[in-house]
Amino acid sequence: MSTQADLDAFLSRLAQPLQFVPTMGGLHDGHGELIRRAAAHGPVLVSVFVNPLQFGPAEDFDRYPRSLETDLSLADRCGAAALWAPSVQMIYPDGACPSRNAADGLQQHLCGAGRPGHFDGVVTVVARLLHLVRPASLWLGEKDWQQLVILRRLVADLCIPVKVQGVATVREADGLAMSSRNRYLTPAERHQAATLPAALRAADATTPLDIIRSMLSAAGLEVEYVERVDPITLQPCGSETAISLLAAAVRCGTTRLIDHVFLMTRQPLVAIDGPAGAGKSTVTRAFAERMGLIYLDTGAMYRSVTWLVQKSGVDPTDAAAITPLLQSLDLQLRSLPCSGQQVLVNGEDVSEAIRSPEVTGLVSVVAAHRCVRQALTAQQKAMGAKGGLVAEGRDIGTAVFPDADLKVFLTATVGERARRRALDLEQRGFPVPERSELEAQIAERDRLDSTREEAPLVKAADAVELITDGMSIDAVIDALVEQFRSRVAEEVWPTPGD
Ligand code: PAF
Repeated sequence: MSTQADLDAFLSRLAQPLQFVPTMGGLHDGHGELIRRAAAHGPVLVSVFVNPLQFGPAEDFDRYPRSLETDLSLADRCGAAALWAPSVQMIYPDGACPSRNAADGLQQHLCGAGRPGHFDGVVTVVARLLHLVRPASLWLGEKDWQQLVILRRLVADLCIPVKVQGVATVREADGLAMSSRNRYLTPAERHQAATLPAALRAADATTPLDIIRSMLSAAGLEVEYVERVDPITLQPCGSETAISLLAAAVRCGTTRLIDHVFLMTRQPLVAIDGPAGAGKSTVTRAFAERMGLIYLDTGAMYRSVTWLVQKSGVDPTDAAAITPLLQSLDLQLRSLPCSGQQVLVNGEDVSEAIRSPEVTGLVSVVAAHRCVRQALTAQQKAMGAKGGLVAEGRDIGTAVFPDADLKVFLTATVGERARRRALDLEQRGFPVPERSELEAQIAERDRLDSTREEAPLVKAADAVELITDGMSIDAVIDALVEQFRSRVAEEVWPTPGD
């Protein structure tokens, strides 16, 4: 279909949320994977539109593959509900002219530097396509990582109600990333082109970029850029960045090829901080399970020490009396099947006991001692050294994992937290105080947590704030998954089960 009427008729028949895969045609198995992944979530519309705005004057607009018949059969085979090939007139009724300067900082490096105006063209066409199609989800390949980051920014900046979903790069058997432009390559060039992924994959966090440039040049590839950047800001970075993007563009004959790898000194780390009663544990545990991350409940660790202090009859305000308890402390957190967690203190199962109102009442006093924080922070850092973990607490993004890949400050109003606390106490069979008393306790806890000298509860400067009043638990978990996915590529940490 190609006309506005066709599109409108298709959209009006939809019973499920629409999944949109915009393409420029020349479909290959990389697009096929996008379509298959999208089709698992609802009917898929594939658009084919060779966007004149994103080609420079000396680029390959005229010879860009146009193969509508083959595209149609690939889209159909992969489960698309329809293919839409609009005319230039339909997308640009007033003439093709880029309308927006795509997020400046994001196009200074990589392809943005060598293709001036390219991302303005991409942003303009995608904004127009989204306006016409109004999908629930927009599916894009991670192969064009810079494009994905820029389009995510477009959607966020303009508050476009669409979920952006990235899909890992699909590769040929020899590692070459699938691209519509691969069909320009002669057999000899095709062989040469495989050096691009090979050189990138051979690199690690310490490899000088010049070595990679030399490997590419030695294979007869003309290097446009080899850069290492932070995957979110797209600004140059070094090995201090735990997960970085090593990206390159080369010319193989007359064909421009791009590729990248993610260099990792550890697996992803997520920090979730926030005040008491914001529902952190429930959503963090579910988020960890959904993403296949280890869940670290640091609140349970502070509660465990508080329980031990109480049980030992030690004055909770006396740091010197607590120190020996810490020296002999054996604190273990074990995940149980069905989202549970077992907490062991010196071999004793305290999972339930640490949730008592007595422990709740004392935990911020005990957790304020420098000796307690230092002992538990050291244990937490050791647990998270390899990454692959989401930690939840009050100082994770500031003191424990300041280099976390995603930091979230999860909060809710005092009234909402008191309501949740009452429900929790009731479910656990503890007496439920008056609502006003609970609110006062929570406000006092906030005051203690955020004014203590050692690692006070504060929102990290680079944390995303999520105020959960009125949000269902599932909506909060979905928001966490979306934040995680916008920072950590599928290629770095695939979603389990996808
Ligand atoms: O990646 C592409 O094929 C294009 O840049 C896109 C997103 C379809 C916009 O023309």
